[in-house]
Amino acid sequence: MPLMMTSSTPVILGIETSCDETAAAIVAGTGQVLSSILTSQHDVHAKYGGVVPELAARRHIETIEVLTREAVERAGLHWRDLHAIAATRGPGLAGALLVGVSYGKALAYALRIPLIGIHHLEGHVASAWINRPDFPVPCVVLVVSGGHTHLYLASPDDRFELLGHTLDDAAGEAFDKAATMLGLGFPGGPAIDRMARTGNPHAVRFPRPYAKPGNLDFSFSGIKTSLRYYLRDLQQAGHPVPVADIAAGFQEAIVDVLVTKTFDAARRCGVRAVAVVGGVSANSRLRARLAQRAQTEGLHLALPDPLYCTDNAAMIAAAGLRAYRRGQISSWDMEAEAGLVFPATSRLRVRSTSGKRRTSRAQPA
Ligand code: KG4
Ligand code: ZN
Repeated sequence: MPLMMTSSTPVILGIETSCDETAAAIVAGTGQVLSSILTSQHDVHAKYGGVVPELAARRHIETIEVLTREAVERAGLHWRDLHAIAATRGPGLAGALLVGVSYGKALAYALRIPLIGIHHLEGHVASAWINRPDFPVPCVVLVVSGGHTHLYLASPDDRFELLGHTLDDAAGEAFDKAATMLGLGFPGGPAIDRMARTGNPHAVRFPRPYAKPGNLDFSFSGIKTSLRYYLRDLQQAGHPVPVADIAAGFQEAIVDVLVTKTFDAARRCGVRAVAVVGGVSANSRLRARLAQRAQTEGLHLALPDPLYCTDNAAMIAAAGLRAYRRGQISSWDMEAEAGLVFPATSRLRVRSTSGKRRTSRAQPA
């Protein structure tokens, strides 16, 4: 449905600079994206094999202004049409965050409109409601990205209860490390996703850690270790490496665990809606399996458009819009915070009973 803009329709500019992507977006009304643009810094960091914080901050400084101006123009708006500016406050790289927060603060001050600091995870969570403002709450939200694999119960009053989280690697991190071992490059998630399409997911079986019902914590370092041993054994035996089958089997193990625990959490909490957000929610196999399971169980499922799964500014603007509607405005002395904690209670958290981690090896099925 096209958005009918009136002077009272809130229009929020979102800015995201927490890591190596500079992004700006405009979201209005009840969560419609009017523009969303992003520049990646892969060219800057590729030769170092990882993100160099100082270089990331410098590139943000160079691009932020032109990108923000373009987001406003592409939305067909002027600076005066903005009602508030939302910027990622943390967590992330200190210098990178500082650029977005300082620029957002200066712009908001100059335009005499409010500034809203957003937690990066709050942004990912808000992406579930982009273009579907009626998605029901309460719901279970799985945030699955490069740094997080966290399950929450979201309440209608925007409170979050932590249900479970990873005890070691995040799912995205496991994908990235596995892709490096397989020589598929970085970021690994999309590379494994593509490679897995030509592989047999049942040819090599990887362990499914904590797949027992009742335990909502995750652990992905064991899967990664089993891959390392599997590759070593193949190499020692002089066998060729079936990269596509390994990618498919590895992905299937992670997807199995994510799907099982998310729907287990919904059943335990007695909710009929599930949202899956964050970079890994762009994974095609995960999306297909979630859709299949939601249909079988008759549950509502929110999966953001893949554009809004990986880091972007539309999700920050969407979270800013929700905060703006609640009247949650930041003060001018708000600062970027690299270690910002997500405000969630932990009433329903379930701990691992054994506390021990076992590493079982991958095996040809
Ligand atoms: O949310 P995000 O862009 O950044 C963080 O906040 O971490 O997530 C990045 C992570 C990376 O680990 C990347 O490999 C993973 O999301 N990812 C994927 C896919 N696209 C991105 N993982 C699996 N399949 C994908 N298609
Ligand atoms: Zn993210």
